Amino acid sequence: MPEAALHVGSGKVRELYALDDDRLLLVASDRISTFDVILPTEIPDKGRVLTGLSAFWFARTRDICPNHLLALRADGRSTECRRLEMLPIECVVRGYLSGSGWKDYSVTGAVCGHELPTGLTESAQLPQPIFTPATKATTGHDENIDRDAAAELVGGDLLDRVERVSLELYRFAAEHAGSRGIVIADTKFELGFDDEGRLVLGDEALTPDSSRFWPAEEYRSGGAQPSFDKQYARDYCESLGWDKTAPGPELPEEVVAGTRARYVEAFERLTEIRFDDYLASPDVVLR
Ligand SMILES: Nc1ncnc2c1ncn2[C@@H]1O[C@H](COP(=O)(O)OP(=O)(O)O)[C@@H](O)[C@H]1O
Ligand SMILES: [Mg+2]
Repeated sequence: MPEAALHVGSGKVRELYALDDDRLLLVASDRISTFDVILPTEIPDKGRVLTGLSAFWFARTRDICPNHLLALRADGRSTECRRLEMLPIECVVRGYLSGSGWKDYSVTGAVCGHELPTGLTESAQLPQPIFTPATKATTGHDENIDRDAAAELVGGDLLDRVERVSLELYRFAAEHAGSRGIVIADTKFELGFDDEGRLVLGDEALTPDSSRFWPAEEYRSGGAQPSFDKQYARDYCESLGWDKTAPGPELPEEVVAGTRARYVEAFERLTEIRFDDYLASPDVVLR
């Protein structure tokens, strides 16, 4: 596939190739994880959905922050991008109380040093979105950190900038998604510096893998919400009584088909572009 490109790494979902000193090729696979375990079964086109959605957002958020996208390849899953020096933190924004944010709040009444009103229930919308950075764990789970710990890693002034940019990106996307029937409960950005010292948005952005997407029509605070994209796969895995440690179970055909349909639906709702049109010509998301 990537001609004369050096394979430089494998993430959980992406393969990374160096095109030259300044450019990388990110190739998104169809791998899926549930409960943090990569399953042996792939979801056809999932990598294309993630790539197309990221590119859609990159093309619409340049005024908020420049990004690493240089070109989309015709396969719909490969992104040519500027190579960045990534910051050592995950830039998480939460608009709703879920996952580790909900856990931390239940125990301490705060998330990453943000004191929150008392009496919030699971999945409640927060009075305003909050920036809750995390460390980039090389193994295991990312760990939420407070402002001081994050400032220690990147410096206080840069942290202020990163927080402003992350909140602005989230607000923009959450408003758009809300109008299309998807709640973006929280999301994670990865930022880095290019060789001219500019702060640039990298990685994937505002996809179902880097965010919690909830179907707006089913949203009710006071408990866990169904995942827009992974619910079939999760429910199936839970129904087996699987202990949620690797290796994960194979998914049967109907669960694969249902899950694929949800990823495609997320793409079509958010972009208002038919997925078949994306497959025919990925650049449609950039217009
Ligand atoms: N423009 C970029 N320059 C350098 N590294 C990048 C860039 N964009 C993304 N990355 C890195 O590429 C990897 C993406 O692969 P992925 O499968 O998503 O990994 P992970 O398992 O860490 O989520 C991440 O480690 C991310 O930090
Ligand atoms: Mg990733």
